[in-house]
Parts: sequence; C-alpha cells; structure tokens
Amino acid sequence: MVVVLGIESSCDETAAALVAGDRVILAQRIASQDAAHRPYGGVVPEIAARAHVALLAPLIAATLDDAGMRLDQVDAVAATAGPGLIGGVMVGLVTAKALAMASDKPLIAVNHLEGHALSPRLADASLNYPYLLLLASGGHCQLLLVRGVGDYRRLGTTIDDALGEAFDKTAKILGLGYPGGPAVERLAATGDAGAVKLPRPLLGTPEPHFSFAGLKSAVLRAHQAGIHADADIAAAFQQAAIDCVIDRTARALAMVRGEITALVVAGGVAANMALRGALEALAARENLRFTAPPPALCTDNAAMIGWAGVERLALGRTDTLSVAARPRWPLDPDAAPVRGAGVKA
Ligand code: KG4
Ligand code: ZN
Repeated sequence: MVVVLGIESSCDETAAALVAGDRVILAQRIASQDAAHRPYGGVVPEIAARAHVALLAPLIAATLDDAGMRLDQVDAVAATAGPGLIGGVMVGLVTAKALAMASDKPLIAVNHLEGHALSPRLADASLNYPYLLLLASGGHCQLLLVRGVGDYRRLGTTIDDALGEAFDKTAKILGLGYPGGPAVERLAATGDAGAVKLPRPLLGTPEPHFSFAGLKSAVLRAHQAGIHADADIAAAFQQAAIDCVIDRTARALAMVRGEITALVVAGGVAANMALRGALEALAARENLRFTAPPPALCTDNAAMIGWAGVERLALGRTDTLSVAARPRWPLDPDAAPVRGAGVKA
C-alpha cells in the first residue's frame, strides 16, 4: 500500500498529512495562523510566509510521529506548488524537495485546486470520473467538468469576487471578524432571508459564470441604511449567493448532463451546510448523485494534497527537483479568458 506525505502552505494554513492508497488518512496536522492575521482582517502574505517557515518542519516531524512512520517509509512527497501566495508556496515546495532528495523518493508538485477537485474522491471511494464540480473557495469560484487527473474543462468562473471572498467581505461589513464564512453561516441561521432585498447577479444568463461584487455592495448599502438586523442581512446574503450558485450550477449541468456520474462540491465554502443542502436538492431533482467531502476536507488541508499525490503517483506523474512554484495555475489552461476574471489569485 503506497503512502504519500502531503504538504500544504499556499495560504494561511500550515498542514501536513500521510495518506494511504486505500484512502486512509494515517495522520494529519493543521496549524492555523488565524490569530496572527486577525488584527489585519485578512491574510498578510509576508506574515504567512514567515509563519510557514517556523511551523512546517516540526509539523511534518509530528505528523510522521503520529503515524509511527519514518520518512524512508513514505513512497512520495507531494506539496502544493501553486496557485496561492507565492512566499508560502515556496516554503512548502522547497521543504518537499529537500525531503524528496534526502529520502530519494519521488516529488509530486500538486496544483492546490486539483487538491480540492479530487478531495471528494478521497472521501468517497465510489465517486468515478467524470463529474461536475463546483469549486468554491476564498480565491476561486468555478464550475469544472472533472474528466480525470489533470484533465479539466472549465465551464464557468467568477468575473469578479470568489464566493468565499463574498462571505468574508460580508463578515467584515457586519463586524464578524476573519475568517468570515463560518460566522456568516452561524448568524444567517438566526435571521430572516426575506427581510432584506438583495440582487442575484447574472441569474438566468446563458453561460454559467458568477459575479458577487454587486451583491457585496448591496450588502454594504443594506447595512449602512441602518434599518435591518445583522442576522437578516446575513441570511439574505447567504440566500442570494446560494440562489446564484444553484442557477449557475443548473446551467452547467445542462451542458454536460449526459457525460457525468455525479454533482460534487469542494473548496472552503463547501463547508457551508445551507449551500450543501441546496446543491443536494438540485442533484435530487436532476436524478444525479451528490457528493461533498466532510467539512474538514473542504477547507484547506494537506490530506487533499496527499491524495492528489496518491492519484498522480499511480499514473507515474511525478516531477523533477527543478519544478517551479506558480502563483497562477489554472486547472484548464485552454479556458477562454472571461472579462473581469483572473484578477484574483
Ligand atoms: O479552500 P479554503 O480553505 O482556502 C482557499 O483556498 O481559499 O477556503 C476558504 C474560504 C474562506 O473565504 C472562508 O470564509 C470560506 O472558505 N468558508 C466558508 C465556510 N467555511 C469556510 N464560507 C461559507 N460558509 C462556511 N461554513
Ligand atoms: Zn483552498
């Protein structure tokens, strides 16, 4: 049974995991840097990079300890090589290169987005290619046809903000702190979504793209009006965002209906229970199976990087020690540029 060491350092989570070929996570550790970034209301790249330097090596040693393993018992070392905050990516990738070199094991440079995209297969052994994936995180909001490892067709993407970014900005407006997604979800559960009228950008348009900037501005105006309860604004925002996502996902489904085996959601925002419920209902209406990884595998983690490593290793897709870190790295390099898209990392 192969075992891959996964390393993740592309944003503000320092993480390591040991993942076996039979989908067992032998050990995993995540050191969150939330406290270091909270005073700034978002991730400060320089602080993140320095924290990865301090945290990563002892975290890997502890992860090996947890599993009772030594480095020479690992079959490959996989690390996020992009996209993300380049300083942090470099820390993880260079560490992985050193470990691969020292143990004479293959190196696997993983696209962080592929980590998210394949994470549902780590959680669900019966999920087969191809599937339609909604990938919703702090930096991305895309609808992808996942045909296999390294084989993606992007059907839609955001033309401005990512979905997680919209949650984070709403949290900031409502004074809920950072990271905002879980706080908005908690507050929304106590509010009345019908009490505040908010727009649903791009609803009904033919191509399954997303836009959340106008929704965020409407949240700001509703808050500044000073007449709505924060909980109602949070609930209305979440409902508007979900309505957009369901409409756009239904469009994408119509484009690939005959090709896919399942509707799948991944990425940090996939931890949102209201969103999962709405997608599950859509899949049921379409007679499709629905899969979402457990919330801990949705937000950034190293198990998904280790799993992408397992899938790549099985296909012999390893990398050389000269592989570069990439701040931008689209899953579908052939996707046509969309006006306004690609501005965010
Ligand atoms: O995938 P992820 O951990 O990091 C990136 O690669 O971006 O996603 C983080 C994003 C943040 O914007 C966070 O607010 C959002 O996922 N998020 C949520 C929830 N949990 C995390 N958004 C809505 N509801 C949640 N429960
Ligand atoms: Zn992520």
